[in-house]
Amino acid sequence: MSAKIINGKKIAEELQNLLKKDVAALPSAIGLAIVQIGDDEASTIYVRNKLKAAAAVGINAVLHKFSEDVSQTKVSSLITKLNADPDVNGIIIQLPLPAHLDEETLLESIKPEKDVDGFHPLNIGRLQNGSDKALIAATPKGILYLLENCGIDLCGGNALIIGCSKIVGRPAGMLLLQKGCTVTLAHIHTKNLPELIKNADIIIAACGCPQTVKAEWVKQGAVLIDVGINRLNGKLCGDIEPAAIQKASFITPVPGGVGPMTVAMLLHNTYEAYLKQKQEKPTK
Ligand code: GUN
Repeated sequence: MSAKIINGKKIAEELQNLLKKDVAALPSAIGLAIVQIGDDEASTIYVRNKLKAAAAVGINAVLHKFSEDVSQTKVSSLITKLNADPDVNGIIIQLPLPAHLDEETLLESIKPEKDVDGFHPLNIGRLQNGSDKALIAATPKGILYLLENCGIDLCGGNALIIGCSKIVGRPAGMLLLQKGCTVTLAHIHTKNLPELIKNADIIIAACGCPQTVKAEWVKQGAVLIDVGINRLNGKLCGDIEPAAIQKASFITPVPGGVGPMTVAMLLHNTYEAYLKQKQEKPTK
C-alpha cells in the first residue's frame, strides 16, 4: 500500500481562489499589517509568500520592517497605531523575534479582533472554549482543513501530536479534541514515542527534528501530517521518514503540504476578522 499524497499547494490555491471572489464582493478593502524585525532568512521567505498571496486574493498587505536592534517601545508604538487604524483589519508579528524584545507583551498588545495569527491569550482561551469568536492559528486551522477536505473521519481516532508549540501543537490538539479525537500531546522528550506512534490513527509531526517519526513505527493506514521543514545532508525534509508513505493512508509532502495552507488560512483569518469587525460596528 502507498499513501494518497495530500496536495496542500493545490488545496490552498483552491481556497485562495474562493477567497478572492469573496474579497472582491466586499464593499471596502481589507488591510493586513505584517511586522517583521530583522533579516531572519526563513522569516523573509514566509513574509514574501504572505505578501504575494495577499496581493493575489486582493488583500492590502503592508510590510512594516524594522532592523534587528529596534527598541520594544518603537515596535509597541507601531502596534498601537495599527490597532487604531480602521483600514487595518489584521496584524501579525512575524516570529521569531530578536532576544531583546518581549514577545509576550508585544503579542498581547495586538487587539484580539485584529490578531489574525490567533496568538493572543483571549483568542487561545476562546479556542479552548470552542467559541466561534476565536481567531485560530493558521497552521493548525490549515491542517484541519486538509483533513476535512480529504474526507478523513476524525471522530474517535487516536491523534498524536509531536511538538507542543503555541503556534502549532497546542492549538492543533484543541481543534482535534473538539472534532472527537483522543489527543496525545507529545514532544521530543517523550520516552515512549515509538509505542505512541504505533497506536496513532493520525499523527501531526511538528517537533522540527528531521525524520523523528520512523516508518517502522507507523500503524498501517495512519494519516500523517508533516509540519517539519528541516535540512538533512543539505536536502529539505520533514519530521516524518519518507518511507512511511508505504504504511500511511494519507500523507502530506514537504514542501507543498502544510506550508501553503498556513498562508491561505492567514488570509482567510484576515477576511474573517474584517467580517467580525464590520458586524460589531453599531448600526445607525
Ligand atoms: N513564524 C513561524 N510561523 C509563524 C506564524 O504562523 N505566524 C507568525 N507570526 N510567525 C511565524
